[in-house]
Amino acid sequence: MSINNMKHKLIWWSIAAFLVTVAAFTAHDDNFNDLDDEETSYGERKGKILFPFISIVRFANVDCASTNTMNGTCLARRECHNLNGTITGMCASRRGRCCIVSRGCGTSTNVNNTYFTSPGYPAAYGGGQSCGIIVNRCNNNICQLRIDLLDMVLAQPNGDGVCNTDSLIITGGNTIVPVLCGDNTGQTLFVDFNGNAAITIAVTATLATTFTRRWNIRLTQLGCDCPGIAPNGCLQYYTGTTGNIIGFNYGSAANTALSASLVTGTRQLANLNYGICIRMEAGFCQIQYSQTGNDPFSFTLTGDVDGADNTVLGTAVGAVNGAACTTDFVVIPNPVLPGTLTPVNTDRFCGLGFVPVQSGAKPFVLYVVTDGNEGATALTPPDVANRGFSLAYTQIAC
Ligand SMILES: *[C@@H]1O[C@H](CO)[C@@H](O)[C@H](O)[C@H]1NC(C)=O
Ligand SMILES: *[C@@H]1O[C@H](CO)[C@@H](O)[C@H](O)[C@H]1NC(C)=O
Ligand SMILES: *[C@@H]1O[C@H](CO)[C@@H](O)[C@H](O)[C@H]1NC(C)=O
Repeated sequence: MSINNMKHKLIWWSIAAFLVTVAAFTAHDDNFNDLDDEETSYGERKGKILFPFISIVRFANVDCASTNTMNGTCLARRECHNLNGTITGMCASRRGRCCIVSRGCGTSTNVNNTYFTSPGYPAAYGGGQSCGIIVNRCNNNICQLRIDLLDMVLAQPNGDGVCNTDSLIITGGNTIVPVLCGDNTGQTLFVDFNGNAAITIAVTATLATTFTRRWNIRLTQLGCDCPGIAPNGCLQYYTGTTGNIIGFNYGSAANTALSASLVTGTRQLANLNYGICIRMEAGFCQIQYSQTGNDPFSFTLTGDVDGADNTVLGTAVGAVNGAACTTDFVVIPNPVLPGTLTPVNTDRFCGLGFVPVQSGAKPFVLYVVTDGNEGATALTPPDVANRGFSLAYTQIAC
């Protein structure tokens, strides 16, 4: 063996020994120096320079339970810092950190599972700022943004159903989203990205000390091949063989605002025009809709709620369909009456009550349409104190 060869071997052994030492140090740092940021970044910097492959993720970036209002994603500590995230604990056998990404007014994000919250959330927000977030796709294979309104309390619309005190306005996507306000906690929206364009979510809240609004919105980016993605253009998407479809700002309590003609105002929002899709579950061929529970207000789309008693509200007497429904209505394609299967011969439903119907038209879709004025006017049938709708659906086996 030549001297040269031995020299080479020695050099290689020294490098190897050095690398092993650094690797051990980095691993040690990763596991135990959780609270020492100074030393952490030193160790990580070393790791980065000597071992580019160290930064390759060594565990799945799965969801991790964090607080009761936000979930985190399991990330390396450094990744979480780079995203301005908040570490709430450990995951992946202490190798990862549960990282919450939460953003406020005037921010942008391209991070999956970002939470967009009102200033000071969960404390009430008095309003006064216009507040938005710009959502960019996290990669080119993202087709849809799932917007979970986990907590969404804004001021009620005016008595004519127009969101002129507070509003939630979502633009930039390929799905038309109506302007929303009032109580929408628990609603989920699916908005298609329009190519690479960002989707903007803006909340306008008029300064009013008497009203306490707040919001916590989860923004999930769905890949084009993701099983949870809604069919193109469906603003809402329900899965499961049964469920409740609740209209925006539905609630049995009346709006305290008066309409322009000084009668009790509406909760039903003006200018709606959207589709709700229900996934047809395997082995199910029909879908039946009915009003939810014993709530007499759960289908009050047109007419005078204040002037109707309980022999009308929520009954067949109050129900209207067909050509009489011109201003505010839901559309259910080609329905029949359950049991007898008699064709209803119309697909529009309005009035102050809803007679159960079933439909075998596929895909299962229900459309919601309202016009620009939900108050009493001289020109249209008077709308007084309408609440909107809450319908239960049940799929029927083939
Ligand atoms: C957290 O994740 C669980 C499980 O996926 C889910 O049920 C829950 O709604 C999530 N909570 C929040 C606040 O996102
Ligand atoms: C993190 O916060 C800093 C300072 O506010 C900002 O400059 C940076 O753009 C933020 N990064 C991300 C990913 O939001
Ligand atoms: C975003 O997170 C959700 C749930 O945590 C997941 O189903 C989805 O696939 C993620 N999107 C991407 C692009 O990773």
